Amino acid sequence: MDIKKYTNAIVIDHPLLKHKISMLRDETTKTNEFRQLVKEIAVLEGYEAFKTLPTQLVEIKTPIETTMQPMVSGNKVCFVPILRAGLGMTDGMLELIPNARVGHLGMYRNEETHQPVEYYCKLPKNIEEKHVFLLDPMLATGGSAIDAVENLKKHGVKKITFICIIAAPEGVAAFCEKCPDIPVYIGALDRQLNENAYICPGLGDCGDRIFGTMVD
Ligand code: PRP
Ligand code: URA
Repeated sequence: MDIKKYTNAIVIDHPLLKHKISMLRDETTKTNEFRQLVKEIAVLEGYEAFKTLPTQLVEIKTPIETTMQPMVSGNKVCFVPILRAGLGMTDGMLELIPNARVGHLGMYRNEETHQPVEYYCKLPKNIEEKHVFLLDPMLATGGSAIDAVENLKKHGVKKITFICIIAAPEGVAAFCEKCPDIPVYIGALDRQLNENAYICPGLGDCGDRIFGTMVD
């Protein structure tokens, strides 16, 4: 795909990120390792995506003198993971911005139609004043992320950034066409979707792998 035509799509290029995503894909990666990798990948992606956050000058007293220095207002930042898999990215993001707020959006894909179904929504007070970072490791058809953005906009949110780990070209195209105003940070851009709308080569079902729901 010609990703350059979508100016809001940013594929992050970093050897450590590539390495960790390759480990994530490996079917022999165990649940605890998988969960740890998702968290580490979130830290690497967050570091890149938070480049655009504004800073305010705050008075700091050093042992030498009083000075005005730049700081990020973490309480103006809100992470919104899409349940379940987005939860795996939240701790990594909070390591970077510990006083950020957290909202939750529960969505699952209907197995036959692949359409997203919303089942839960709990967003922090004054969400409309915050920069929302929407988190979901997988951008497949794009349906879940697009619905999540529409939901956030209905709640008055004006500034949204979407961060995913693996994206399919079909999902990037759908998302960028529907939400050209929302930056989307991508860890790896994969080849295509299969007939079940799974990403190829992908990593399988991310929620199941984070929470170990399909292993004994
Ligand atoms: C996965 C994933 C995304 C969605 C992506 O969740 O975490 O939310 O699929 O697919 P889409 O781009 O085609 O909408 P899933 O529906 O499997 O729910 P789960 O995390 O609860 O397992
Ligand atoms: N959701 C997943 O967890 N994996 C995919 O490949 C597609 C959607």
